[in-house]
Amino acid sequence: MAFFTRQFIRGFSSTAVRNVVIKQVTVIGGGQMGAGIAQVAASTGHSVTLVDTSEDILKKSVKGIEGSLKRVVKKKFADKPEAGEEFIQKVLQKVSISTDVGSAVQSSDLVLEAIVENLKIKQDLFGRLDKLAPAHTIFASNTSSLPITDIASPTSRLDRFGGLHFFNPVPMMKLVEVIATSSTSKETFESLMNFCKALGKTPVSCKDTPGFIVNRLLVPYMGEAIRLHERGHGSKEDIDIAMKLGAGYPMGPFELADYVGLDTMKFIIDGWCEKEPNNPLFQSSALLNKLVAEGKYGRKTGEGFYKYK
Ligand SMILES: NC(=O)c1ccc[n+]([C@@H]2O[C@H](COP(=O)([O-])OP(=O)(O)OC[C@H]3O[C@@H](n4cnc5c(N)ncnc54)[C@H](O)[C@@H]3O)[C@@H](O)[C@H]2O)c1
Repeated sequence: MAFFTRQFIRGFSSTAVRNVVIKQVTVIGGGQMGAGIAQVAASTGHSVTLVDTSEDILKKSVKGIEGSLKRVVKKKFADKPEAGEEFIQKVLQKVSISTDVGSAVQSSDLVLEAIVENLKIKQDLFGRLDKLAPAHTIFASNTSSLPITDIASPTSRLDRFGGLHFFNPVPMMKLVEVIATSSTSKETFESLMNFCKALGKTPVSCKDTPGFIVNRLLVPYMGEAIRLHERGHGSKEDIDIAMKLGAGYPMGPFELADYVGLDTMKFIIDGWCEKEPNNPLFQSSALLNKLVAEGKYGRKTGEGFYKYK
């Protein structure tokens, strides 16, 4: 009987039908998003291991985190610079770096992936990690446009897999979309919601549908603004002014598209269009395609709908 109970408990815990209090986090991908997520997690007392493909990239990520923390501290500790410096050191101590994903996930409660937006590469990564991470470890992806169900498919922990969609810049943006697939357990979902709250963010619950909530509304909105302009119904400048002053938006749709990146926007729309070719909201536009073909991706390349210095 005792043996049975032990086996039962072991089996029970190995499928992790319980809430996990997330303390140790492995963030895979030290780019724009991964570095931001690592910074916020470390700032709120979590131990973070940041993983990328090379030491050089990781050193740049840590430098970026330090620079961002300095900006935070300038405001938060304006009249106590020493306390600010202490805070920065304390946060940086919470972040370790690694190029060895296998060892990085060994004591992890959560593995959060923020690598390149490519389904096959994400699937390969999670397929490998599934064999390396402890049974209780929750997996999550920060994908903007790929179905979480597809990313999770090579793993045997579909109940411990969800989406955590952060927004850029992560330290500033309050929202996290928490995505539950049809297989995500209630306990996993609650653990992810609690983790977001512990980060000081506001989580919202989403289904695993294209664009979740924010991008599902924003991308077609930006697309329609481009088509409105293409039909000759308004200049870019007038449409931007109209939406800022008439709808109270902080940026117009063309400014926003340049900020998001026109390559990213096209990638998202083309992916959705492939799945739902007849959906008029998921169509690309000649102007968007032309700018992307010319390498004009928006702010990051110095030119998109507008020119930037
Ligand atoms: N940039 C945004 O505004 C934004 C917002 C929300 C979500 N996202 C999503 O977050 C993810 C990352 O986006 P980003 O803008 O930070 O990209 P990025 O290009 O800035 O960073 C990606 C990082 O992942 C690393 N990487 C690639 N393959 C890897 C692998 N196999 N193992 C370890 N590291 C690997 C790269 O070296 C790079 O440092 C994407 O899925 C994207 O859709 C982006």
